[in-house]
Amino acid sequence: MKTQQPANPRAQAVLSLIGHTPLTPLRFAPEGVMILAKCEFLNPSGSVKDRLAKGVLLDAERRGLLRPDSIILECSSGNTGIAMAMVGAAMGYRVTILMSSSASVERRKLIRQLGADLILFDSAGRYQTGIEISREMAAKDSRYFLPRQFENPLNVEDHEQTTGQEILAQAGGPITAFVHGFGTGGTLAGCGKAIKKRWPQARIHAMEPAEQALLAGECPCCHFIEGVADGFIPPLLRDAPIDGHIEVTSADALAMTRRLHHEFGLLVGTSSGANIVAALRLAGELGPDGTVVTLLCDRAERYFSTALFDLVGGERTAERAASQTQGSGGQFFSSLGKP
Ligand SMILES: Cc1ncc(COP(=O)(O)O)c(C=O)c1O
Repeated sequence: MKTQQPANPRAQAVLSLIGHTPLTPLRFAPEGVMILAKCEFLNPSGSVKDRLAKGVLLDAERRGLLRPDSIILECSSGNTGIAMAMVGAAMGYRVTILMSSSASVERRKLIRQLGADLILFDSAGRYQTGIEISREMAAKDSRYFLPRQFENPLNVEDHEQTTGQEILAQAGGPITAFVHGFGTGGTLAGCGKAIKKRWPQARIHAMEPAEQALLAGECPCCHFIEGVADGFIPPLLRDAPIDGHIEVTSADALAMTRRLHHEFGLLVGTSSGANIVAALRLAGELGPDGTVVTLLCDRAERYFSTALFDLVGGERTAERAASQTQGSGGQFFSSLGKP
């Protein structure tokens, strides 16, 4: 994939913010291990998917596949939709996103806010439904351009050449293991390839929701880790260098994500917590000399309406807290002139 400038210079403002995210060390004192976490939630639309949108749309423009009247049409459970809407808006193209009606309301609002059209479909848990609808629409109207995130080899290539190379440079030494969930499989396959080429002994692992461990041969089921395991093994994972998979329950993923919020101050989404659970397990197996890398995929704000923000133990408003204690809460309200 060649580096290039967008036809519309205005797009550079947001495109230049995509990628080159930090690789930050997370020290888990109780476990006595350190994980290197690539902060993809710092991309401008808030997720790793900004890389895919930038790579595929710039490539399409360069090859003359995008015309002024083109409509970018993608099926997405959220993050790709938001990323395509953001990059499409900046590059000056119309965008239509097909999304399962079960996707969180925050994601829908962001897509609309970026000026894209949103078509909701009832998938009954089958992601393929959206892909089929997009193909039918494209067959009837030549203005549609399909980035095809689930099949497009650029998805893997771009992660191998950008995310993967950044990780290698930022780790500054041997990587013993890399673990990540998969939606399209682009991130796992691309980063896995880059790391394996440089460090052939590195173990590449797929994180899977325990309720739906497809690589273990289980059937599609329900889980709370949005963005990963959409009910099928994606074609882009076919030639990915995967040494094993680690199953993480939704409960463990949610608990770890809240821990990342409370203990580290990192406001990330549920799949990031799941990745860290898997990374900690690997780090425990590899011992103190292991260097385990994973990704923090997206931001917590995307999950306000989901189980991640169902407060354990109930929510206490400031006023209730003040009425229940004689301490600082009460003094705070007194200082405001309240009884
Ligand atoms: C929220 C989220 N977005 C995106 C991805 C990356 O998915 P893909 O496999 O499509 O590259 C993941 C994978 O874990 C994820 O959790």
